[in-house]
Amino acid sequence: PRSGIVLGIESSCDDTGVAVVTTSGRVLGESLATQAEIHAAWGGVVPKLAQEAHEAAIDGCVEAALSAAGVTADQLDAVAVTIGPGLGLCLRVGVLKARQLAAAHQLPVVPVHHMEAHALVARLGATRFALDAAAQTAAGAATATHQAAAGASGSTTSASAAGAASLGPAAPAADAAAEPPPAALVEFPFLCLLISGGHNQLLLVEGVGQYTQLGTTLDDALGEAYDKVARLLGLDLMPSGGAALEAFALEGNPRGMPFSVPMQRHANCDFSYAGLKTAVRLAIEEHAPEPSEANRQVRADIAASFQRVAVKHLEERCRRAVQWAQETHPEVRHLVVAGGVASNLFIRSQLTAVAQRAGLELVCPPARLCTDNGVMVAWAGVERLQLGLEEAPPAAVELGEGE
Ligand code: KG4
Ligand code: ZN
Repeated sequence: PRSGIVLGIESSCDDTGVAVVTTSGRVLGESLATQAEIHAAWGGVVPKLAQEAHEAAIDGCVEAALSAAGVTADQLDAVAVTIGPGLGLCLRVGVLKARQLAAAHQLPVVPVHHMEAHALVARLGATRFALDAAAQTAAGAATATHQAAAGASGSTTSASAAGAASLGPAAPAADAAAEPPPAALVEFPFLCLLISGGHNQLLLVEGVGQYTQLGTTLDDALGEAYDKVARLLGLDLMPSGGAALEAFALEGNPRGMPFSVPMQRHANCDFSYAGLKTAVRLAIEEHAPEPSEANRQVRADIAASFQRVAVKHLEERCRRAVQWAQETHPEVRHLVVAGGVASNLFIRSQLTAVAQRAGLELVCPPARLCTDNGVMVAWAGVERLQLGLEEAPPAAVELGEGE
């Protein structure tokens, strides 16, 4: 690598994320345009609207991340981009932009798997947290918020420089410092629980691109279940159904409804959330068919009980995976929890207990690196680039040509 700087682009679903990260794991600048408001009205992500919002936001996001980082595209080493899995219409916006940028500046392209990016961002290590905190103070926590072209259609964009950056919440500096850094770099092999809107997997990660799947969902992913339950309960789906449900559950009694933990007779690491979701739907039909202030308490009890049981299921599966890992791979030290749902604080605290009882350390990226973002793609790009897994610079890319 010449400069050791990689720009990463994420556009697989409803967030346009761009970040500039160094090979030593410093986040120099980043920018994120979220479309939550656009899709909240429809109760889910509408691919065509998402594509349009990505198209409206992408150029501004790339410019904002570069300028926050204080570098030009010519100073980059490579452009990393999410190539899947995700919504095809959305992925191609990011891929096209990456290829245009790479062609214009003769840069290699690093194709990144979305779930790998979620998993690997946990390896942005301890010294890097400290460096970024220092950089942030020095930079005076320069944070700029602007409405990109997409602003008119309801998407919001924010860009932040240097440290604001990295692994803490956007501003202010004090909050970033409050985010506890992991004690050490997460080394391979590690156990990883990926929980997002589309995925629910337990993996043994032995290296970049080397994953053994220990379990996956037989039906819904946990984020999807959170989203559906939030919708059934008539919650405001901002900033996401999952976050809304987590907040609402705080008002309820987690033992208020007798939901049962899924798959208790199956001694494996697979997941299932469809049955629980149906039980929740029936409970809502019985106790709170129309959301109102009058039935707020019973709805909160349903939310809290759903969350308790859904997470108990996660705990049981993780406990079994940890036990297996300790028998077969005693060098495993970390349980990494990643993906959008990993920003849930109740889940973090329950899984911390599971890890601690087994003598493992739980590593959870800060919330803003758990939900989709450009940093995780740039960092996965760094890891792949270091292994020579990039592609040659593309020949000139025609405007409007997709991948
Ligand atoms: O990783 P992500 O941003 O996008 C996907 O790749 O799917 O994850 C989005 C998912 C959504 O289902 C959202 O409701 C869920 O993560 N989520 C949460 C929380 N924050 C986001 N679920 C539970 N609790 C949260 N605090
Ligand atoms: Zn994701």
